[in-house]
Amino acid sequence: MDLLERAKFNMQKNRIFTLFILFFFQFGSSQVAIPHLEKVGNNMHLVVEGKPFIVLGGELSNSSFTNVQYMKSQWPKLQAMNLNTILAPVYWELIEPKEGVFDFALLDELILESRKNGMKIVLLWFGSWKNSMSSHVPSWIKQNQTKYPRVVDEIGISQEILSPFSENNMKADATAFNVLMNHIKSIDSQDQTIIMVQPENEIGMLPSARDYSPIANQLYASTVPKELMDYLHKNKADLVPEFLGVWRKNGFKEKGTWEEIFGEGFHTDELFMAWYFAKFAEEITKAGKSAYALPMFVNAALIRPGKIPGEYPSAGPLPHLMDIWKAAAPSIDMFSPDFYNPDFEYWCDLYNRQSNPLFVPEHRFDATAGPKALFAVGHYEAIGFSPFSIENSENKALGKAYALINQLNPLITARHGENLIDGVLLDKEKILTTVVLGDYEFSFKNSYTLGWEAGASEAVWDSGAAIIIQTGKNEFYIAGTGVVVTFKNWKKRNHIVGILKNEEGVFENGTWKIVRHLNGDQTHQGRHIRISHGDYSIQRVELYEYK
Ligand code: DGJ
Repeated sequence: MDLLERAKFNMQKNRIFTLFILFFFQFGSSQVAIPHLEKVGNNMHLVVEGKPFIVLGGELSNSSFTNVQYMKSQWPKLQAMNLNTILAPVYWELIEPKEGVFDFALLDELILESRKNGMKIVLLWFGSWKNSMSSHVPSWIKQNQTKYPRVVDEIGISQEILSPFSENNMKADATAFNVLMNHIKSIDSQDQTIIMVQPENEIGMLPSARDYSPIANQLYASTVPKELMDYLHKNKADLVPEFLGVWRKNGFKEKGTWEEIFGEGFHTDELFMAWYFAKFAEEITKAGKSAYALPMFVNAALIRPGKIPGEYPSAGPLPHLMDIWKAAAPSIDMFSPDFYNPDFEYWCDLYNRQSNPLFVPEHRFDATAGPKALFAVGHYEAIGFSPFSIENSENKALGKAYALINQLNPLITARHGENLIDGVLLDKEKILTTVVLGDYEFSFKNSYTLGWEAGASEAVWDSGAAIIIQTGKNEFYIAGTGVVVTFKNWKKRNHIVGILKNEEGVFENGTWKIVRHLNGDQTHQGRHIRISHGDYSIQRVELYEYK
C-alpha cells in the first residue's frame, strides 16, 4: 500500500469507527436518561425512567432510615397509602464516621429494600445543616472546632451551626456529598430508585439573624460582592417585589456595603447570610452533580406569622430571598416550602414565581394533606407532594387522593404546561373559586355549601379539593372530594350550559371504565356536578349548550 492508499484506508477506518460510536450512542445503549427535570410548555415536569413522574410521596421521620428491620415493618403501611416515593435522609455522621472512610452498607440495604417494595427515593442529605443546626455532622467535625468553625451569636457564644464562611467546612461537606453521589451513580443509575436529592435540610440562622464571628463581621462591613450586584442589575425587572422594595428604599444603589445598599436592620443580616449560605449550598450541589446530576432542590422552614429574622430560621431559600439564592446558587433546580403553617395557597403562590416548579417535600400529616395534594398537582402542576412523618399516622384520605392522581397521571402529565389542567382547594373561609378552561368557566364550591351533607354545620369544615382536566372542547374530568361544580360558557353568555353526560368511573391501565351513570339527585337533576365529602372519585363530564 502506498502512502496515499494508506491514508485513504485510515480515513475509511476512522469513518467506520465514528459511525459505530454514533450508532452505539443513539441506538446501541439501552440506558435511559437519568431522572431529570424537563421544560414542557410553561411548566416543568420530572422524568424518571423516560416517563413523566409525579412524586406521591411521604417523608419518613428523621431517624427511621437508620434501621433496615424497622423499615421492613413500615412498607405495608406506606404501600396502603399508595405512595410511589419515600423522602428519606442519608446522614453524614453515618456514612463518613472517620474522615475519608466511607460506609454505605446501610444505605445500600435500604435502597434494595425500597426497590423490593416498589418505592422510589428522594434522598435528603443531612450534611452540614439540619433544621439550622449541625447535629448530623460526624464527630471528627464536631470535635474539631478550630478546623471546622461555627457561627457565633451577638454575645460571642458559638452555636452548633457550622459556619458557611469556612473553606474547610465547605470542602469537607462537598467531598462527602461528592463521594455519596458517585456511589449512588455506581449502584443506582440503572435502576433509578433515587430520583432527586435535597442537599442539606432547612438551612437557616436561629436564634440570631447573622453570624458575628470575625470573618463574618469583616465580610458584613465589606462591599456587597459584584457577582450579586451584577445579577440584581441584570434581573431588576424580574426581582420579587418584597426584595425589590428593600433595594428601592435605599435608592437602588449598585455599590457599597450591605448596610449602604440594603439599609440597617435584621433584614440586612438575613440578606447577607442568605448570600453566603446559598454560595455554600451551590458548592455542595455542584460537587454532587459533578458525580451524578440528579435534580436537586433545597427546602425552607416557612416564617411563622409575626416573626422577624432571627426569630425564625432566617436566610434559607425563602420566597423573599429567592433572588439572592438564585444569584448565588444556579445549580439548584428548585426552592421548596415545608408546611407546618396555615395559608397553603399563599405560600405556594410565592414559591411558584420566576419559573420555580412547586415541590412540597414536607407538609404536616393532617386531614388536609390529601386535598392539598390534589390542589398542588392540579393547580400548580406540582412535581410532587409529601406529608412528613408518613409512617406515624394512618390517613386514609391521603391514600385516596394519591390513588386518584395515580390513575390520572397519564392524562395530567400529557397536558403539563398547556393550561388544560387546574386544581381547587376550598374550606369554610374560601367557599368558592372559579376555573376557566377553554370556553367554560366553572364555579367550584365546597359541597358543604349545599347544606345537606353531614358536617356542614361543624365550626371547621373539611377541605374540599379537585383536579379538573380538559380532554376535549366540551369534555372534562373532575377528580376530588367535597366539591360541587356549576358551569357557564364565557364566550356565549346568553346560552345555558347543561350536562350531556356525567359518569363516575376509574382509569384502568389508562382506559376509562364507567362505574355509574350519574343523573337525577346525583346531578341535582342536571344542575351541577358533585363529589361529596368522604368520597374520592373521578367523574367524566360532557357539557352542551342551549338557549
Ligand atoms: C422540618 C424538618 O425539615 C424535618 O426534618 C422535621 O424536623 C420536622 N420539621 C419536624 O416537625
